[in-house]
Amino acid sequence: MLTVTILAIVAFIPAMAANSLAVIFGGKFPIDGGTKIDGKRILGDGKTWSGLLGGVISATVLGILLSFVSGSLYPSGVEGYIIILSLSLGALLGDICSSFIKRRLGRRRGQRTPLVDEYDFVVGALLLTFIVSQTWVVETYFVNGRWMSLLVILMLIPLLHRATNIIGYRLGMKKEPW
Ligand code: CTP
Ligand code: MG
Repeated sequence: MLTVTILAIVAFIPAMAANSLAVIFGGKFPIDGGTKIDGKRILGDGKTWSGLLGGVISATVLGILLSFVSGSLYPSGVEGYIIILSLSLGALLGDICSSFIKRRLGRRRGQRTPLVDEYDFVVGALLLTFIVSQTWVVETYFVNGRWMSLLVILMLIPLLHRATNIIGYRLGMKKEPW
């Protein structure tokens, strides 16, 4: 039981890493190209191609390395790689969707939105991965007490989020320490 819980938490690393690594690679080439609708940026300067591509690629590579370390994290072969990619990409697409909504609500880039800022990527990662492999998501996070791993992930994320943002802020990669 403990082993499967730990494996499910480790399997979620690509999603968490994508979100953190986007801060490191980010900042160049805004995805919305500066375009506004109704006087508000579509996404804002916090969502860039460098963050999206850098985050997705590096998190996917990390996930594939993890899959070599432990063969029981993901299904074997291409199916596993697709799951790793969808965890990474889904995380950053979720983050982009939440910025789109925040801008429509008139929130400036970086203005803090509790819970949404912490969990947008979790929802995005689980949703995209669910579309790609329903069975894996359900069996890893939702049945036979597996929700415990999801609960631990949800508890760890605010800490990780905070740590990443403080590091990003100290390194001058992020304007706010959150
Ligand atoms: N980042 C990026 N591209 C992405 C995601 C993140 O360049 N697709 C970088 C940006 O430098 C961003 C930082 O990572 O400032 C932190 O991400 P996040 O907190 O999601 O962005 P915010 O600046 O807070 O902007 P928003 O209000 O839109 O969330
Ligand atoms: Mg933010």
